[in-house]
Amino acid sequence: MADAQIIDGKTIARNIRDTLAKKVSSCVEKPRLAVILVGNDEASLVYDRAKQRAAKEIGMDCQIYHLDELVTENEVLELISQLNEDIHIHGIIVQLPLPAHINALNILMQISPEKDVDGFHPVNVGLLQAKSPLAMVPATPKGILHMLKTVCPDLAGKRAVIIGRSTIVGRPMATLLLNNDCTVTIVHTKTKDIAQVVKEADIVIAACGKCNTVKADWIKEGAIVIDVGINRVDGKLCGDVDFENVKTIASYITPVPGGVGPMTIAMLLVNTFEAYSRQTHNV
Ligand code: GUN
Repeated sequence: MADAQIIDGKTIARNIRDTLAKKVSSCVEKPRLAVILVGNDEASLVYDRAKQRAAKEIGMDCQIYHLDELVTENEVLELISQLNEDIHIHGIIVQLPLPAHINALNILMQISPEKDVDGFHPVNVGLLQAKSPLAMVPATPKGILHMLKTVCPDLAGKRAVIIGRSTIVGRPMATLLLNNDCTVTIVHTKTKDIAQVVKEADIVIAACGKCNTVKADWIKEGAIVIDVGINRVDGKLCGDVDFENVKTIASYITPVPGGVGPMTIAMLLVNTFEAYSRQTHNV
């Protein structure tokens, strides 16, 4: 059998950004995104600069509020309150992870749900569960769904297995796929016989955060494999999927880099434009 076809997230994301740039160019006011970054986590710095660059390239404004590692929870809550009240700010994200002395849920709950373009506020989590079109959908699962639909427009009845139960990828991904009529299983660190469960999947979403974890013999022939992993090993980027071997079994596969990563940024910009449109009645 031929090797899997590559799902080219980079190109799909560029098309989404080009479409957005045209929409933004006809806006009276610039959509504005505020990014709060606490401390000096190297990966977070890189991600936030990439988000800022992408926003600016399509004509949006994006300011990074880079706070000291030792900032108090109250100081972050206060900054969020100010940004909530600022009518010229349309989207707010707080880069995760936060330092251990700050309670992430307290912080996320402070963001006005209308400006919560990451979709992590419990109101948006609930709206997604309720299948409301008003839900802000977290960018990574939203980007993955978009990529899946480019190669498999009708997901109804597909068996999807998600590896990882995080609140920012695994759980919202499960809800989105369920909302699209998939039969969904989440496996995690306590699951018995993970390989056997994954082997049943038509769609595999690997979001476990461990380099080359998903092996070729876990994969059903012809499955679609999405790799969410961005792991750095000896300075080299590595996905959660053993790409070279899995691609000989799968029908479609996403590369790392150039798969899920660019789609996440594109969908963050889509969400920011959506939040802007709702707040300014530019719909
Ligand atoms: N950390 C890892 N992924 C994300 C994300 O999508 N948004 C934020 N705010 N932090 C993250």
